[in-house]
Amino acid sequence: MRHFLDLHTTPAEDLRGILDLARAMKSARGEAPKGRPDAEQPLAGRVVALIFEKPSTRTRVSFDVGARQMGGETLVLSGGEMQLGHGETIADTARVLSRFVDLIMIRTFEETTLLELAENATVPVINGLTDASHPCQIMADVMTYEEHRGPIAGRKVVWVGDGNNVCASFLHAAGQFGFDLTFAGPREFDPAPAAADFARGKGVKVEIERDPARAVRGADLIVTDTWLSMHDAQSARERRYKLLRPYQVNQNLMDAARPDTLFMHCLPAHRSEEVTNKVMDGPNSVVFDEAENRLHAQKAIMRWCLGV
Ligand code: CP
Ligand code: NVA
Repeated sequence: MRHFLDLHTTPAEDLRGILDLARAMKSARGEAPKGRPDAEQPLAGRVVALIFEKPSTRTRVSFDVGARQMGGETLVLSGGEMQLGHGETIADTARVLSRFVDLIMIRTFEETTLLELAENATVPVINGLTDASHPCQIMADVMTYEEHRGPIAGRKVVWVGDGNNVCASFLHAAGQFGFDLTFAGPREFDPAPAAADFARGKGVKVEIERDPARAVRGADLIVTDTWLSMHDAQSARERRYKLLRPYQVNQNLMDAARPDTLFMHCLPAHRSEEVTNKVMDGPNSVVFDEAENRLHAQKAIMRWCLGV
């Protein structure tokens, strides 16, 4: 039994194996209608619980459709409608769900909730985003980069804006897949030092640059995300926006990179805030390929967890 909790705690060769499997499954499906079962049905007879304590479109739909394509059943559970939202502990929830389902994915707030769930579950647990990380997203991002440009190893990725949960997973990925990462954002929103240290410890370059135009010079990929994550207080909005506004990804910033520099955003995007329409809908943007690849990456992660 294997949990998929974070990129830095999963062996690099396993991460690569998951991406190879995702690519093979994607190509085997081709243009098949979304509801058509895969030729192989590795999740036949299995039930997957998807717990959401925060909103979701991509994570919810990719896991749900992905599990079904592989022959599995799914239960989409909202934390607030479970006893979990009314005082039952996460440990007891883990013990109970393990008696009913074969795999649990959770999107939650504190990382400790995810870890406690994994510690007490007797079935695999997948991190569908916490305040601290979003590993499933970055598996899809690496897959997308490589589909467009070949191996990501040795490339330069520039994260622009808030050094948040998604940025932390990008740093973990930098270490595991061997690419350099430059963070361009205000000091107040620097990425988690432990994530940067992990990447540096693996021998890749992690740089912090306050000037976004200088940061993106020579970039192979520019990535940004919302300026106000789901775990951030609404009351912080004004201050965050003020500090982050100089880090908007707009055409000027893209022009400071190379003509073939790709743009990614995990979505949902706040158009005209962290990114302009021109960039989102421009020729360098691969955001919808990135969204689609959530499906293929999630399917491979579920198979890896279950060893099927
Ligand atoms: N990128 C992502 O995780 O999207 P959702 O919040 O819609 O799941
Ligand atoms: N950083 C964002 C990502 C959403 C997919 C959040 O945590 O809200």
